[in-house]
Amino acid sequence: MASFKQFFAWCKRHYLLVTFLVVLCIAVFGFVNIQILHMTSEPEFCHLCHPAQGFGPLAEVDSWEHSAHGESGVSCLDCHGRPGVVGYMKAKLGGLKDTYMQLTISKEEKLEILKNPPEDLVPDEHCLFCHSDEGNASYRKKVKLMKVVRMRMLDDVRNPEFRQKKGLPDILTDTFVGGTHFDHSMHLESFEFTCRDCHFGVVHNPKTKTDRMNMCVTCHKENEGSDAPLLADCQTCHQAQYDMNKGVGAKGIDGEPGIMWAAETGCTDCHTGVESGIYRPSAETCTNCHDDGYVEIFDEWASETKAEIADLRELRISVEEALNEADRKKRDTKAYWQQYEKALYNFRMVRNDGTNGVHNREYAAAILKSVRSDFQQILTKLEQAW
Ligand code: HEC
Ligand code: HEC
Ligand code: HEC
Ligand code: HEC
Ligand code: HEC
Ligand code: HEC
Ligand code: HEC
Ligand code: HEC
Repeated sequence: MASFKQFFAWCKRHYLLVTFLVVLCIAVFGFVNIQILHMTSEPEFCHLCHPAQGFGPLAEVDSWEHSAHGESGVSCLDCHGRPGVVGYMKAKLGGLKDTYMQLTISKEEKLEILKNPPEDLVPDEHCLFCHSDEGNASYRKKVKLMKVVRMRMLDDVRNPEFRQKKGLPDILTDTFVGGTHFDHSMHLESFEFTCRDCHFGVVHNPKTKTDRMNMCVTCHKENEGSDAPLLADCQTCHQAQYDMNKGVGAKGIDGEPGIMWAAETGCTDCHTGVESGIYRPSAETCTNCHDDGYVEIFDEWASETKAEIADLRELRISVEEALNEADRKKRDTKAYWQQYEKALYNFRMVRNDGTNGVHNREYAAAILKSVRSDFQQILTKLEQAW
């Protein structure tokens, strides 16, 4: 009893120190608490200090939310934390540094840091962990402890399964990627490019497509005796647009060539500004060959298709969630995943064409219709099987 009394007396004398120690204990306990780890990994938490709208510095959460990665469930720490338990914990410590900096540096200093992210903020190796089979396997060999409990998507990524479920190519072996005919391995090896050279700002500040094409054209204007395609060989690079004009390429859907393609209107008949570096035509271009009323036809085509695409993007998220939910319940979902992969492939073709159906309205509409029907069938079948 005496020792207790002594203890309380000591506490009374050192109440500041004691309060501090108690708070510290709670904080330390909280820090290792899985729930808190989870919570402080969520984009909503990052949003507290990265709150702006649009693109660029401070708008990292908003830009992410509208990016392809955000939509498909790839979250902040899937990129901003290396794979594996150690990588995850390091990222959390980085978060403590963020918090400390938030309290100690000025707004201007923060903006300056965010405007100049270091080259290796997300190294190539990390991107390849998800985007190739070889990169995934070699990282897994290096990192011993992948996960303790389920913390995020990254540590569960196993290729080729992950890629296939997301309908993604292996970028080190496939040469038809994102609608473009492009050999990553050859270009990466021959010219020592990094992902950043072409996909700079991939999530938070994407460059325009014109910038991207200009980057290719620096080499592809002259082929200097190599087999490199030239600027005029549009279809060599633009496979999705070529297929769309011809009415081929989607899985399980027969198509006809687009109206204008069928009437022998070639790429540069519409893309008249290419030589002067203006690649994208507009509604005005239609009036080169048609009367002014065709501007409205263009707008009508584009807005209808655009709305349908936006709708399907939302639907896609629910379908994938339902599939993952069914997997967690250990149901047999193999056939549904296959149907989903097919639908995703077709959906990507329309999105990659990038014209909201202007290249071939009928075909684009037929593809989107089949995507919708696939998505809905999957949802219905998953519900029925209860
Ligand atoms: C308490 C405020 C705060 C929170 C919450 C916060 N950050 Fe930050 N973040 C900052 C500040 C301040 C900086 C700039 C200084 C620095 O590099 O730490 C920063 C910088 C960054 C950088 C750039 C680092 C660099 O070296 O250029 C990344 C990446 C980042 N934060 C990601 C995140 C992620 C992901 C989350 C959520 C899991 C998050 N932040 C939550 C305040 C915060
Ligand atoms: C956790 C796994 C993962 C990591 C890490 C990752 N990605 Fe992705 N990435 C995906 C998924 C999933 C998609 C498909 C999005 C969709 O469904 O359209 C994607 C799509 C893309 C696309 C096509 C869509 C777009 O936004 O243009 C590019 C390009 C891309 N990733 C590049 C990168 C780069 C560069 C890095 C490294 C900085 C990276 N990815 C890191 C999973 C990942
Ligand atoms: C020389 C330029 C260049 C470099 C370097 C480059 N890419 Fe690409 N990447 C492209 C082009 C072109 C496409 C086709 C789609 C497009 O045009 O946006 C593409 C497409 C992709 C896609 C999209 C596939 C899809 O189905 O949507 C992913 C993922 C990707 N790249 C990842 C990477 C990664 C990871 C690295 C680094 C290891 C990298 N890229 C380096 C030019 C490049
Ligand atoms: C697909 C990978 C990927 C995902 C997911 C991702 N980022 Fe990034 N982030 C990057 C890359 C790559 C950079 C380096 C700069 C660049 O190329 O844009 C970066 C840069 C940053 C920076 C530095 C400042 C800037 O604007 O460039 C911050 C802060 C940041 N990210 C926060 C976040 C937050 C918060 C989330 C989640 C809401 C997130 N990131 C999700 C890949 C990703
Ligand atoms: C640094 C110069 C350089 C840049 C930049 C470059 N390429 Fe190439 N590319 C070449 C060379 C050289 C060849 C020819 C290689 C050979 O002899 O087959 C080539 C070949 C190709 C081929 C035909 C071979 C194949 O099957 O892949 C395509 C398609 C191609 N490039 C697309 C692109 C695209 C798209 C971009 C922009 C994202 C790009 N290139 C950027 C130099 C470049
Ligand atoms: C060497 C490969 C290559 C060739 C040849 C090529 N392009 Fe591109 N082009 C690209 C890439 C890569 C992009 C960026 C695509 C993306 O990011 O989705 C692009 C983008 C575009 C865009 C979108 C521009 C914007 O700002 O929205 C148009 C339109 C376009 N190209 C038309 C053409 C036409 C027409 C031709 C033939 C005269 C042609 N391209 C030849 C590689 C090429
Ligand atoms: C009937 C006229 C017409 C023809 C023929 C045509 N295009 Fe287009 N293309 C357009 C218009 C208009 C747009 C812009 C649509 C928009 O902004 O919504 C466009 C957009 C594009 C884009 C940009 C897509 C993106 O991702 O943003 C590319 C690349 C392209 N066309 C390539 C081609 C190729 C390659 C051919 C030949 C195989 C071709 N186009 C034939 C009218 C045409
Ligand atoms: C280079 C000339 C050219 C351009 C530019 C062009 N078209 Fe056409 N278009 C044609 C030809 C040729 C036909 C087929 C002959 C016909 O039936 O009149 C056609 C047919 C059509 C038809 C079906 C028949 C009709 O006359 O109504 C529609 C609809 C159409 N075009 C819409 C458009 C739209 C929208 C654009 C802008 C994206 C556009 N066209 C740009 C040449 C062009």
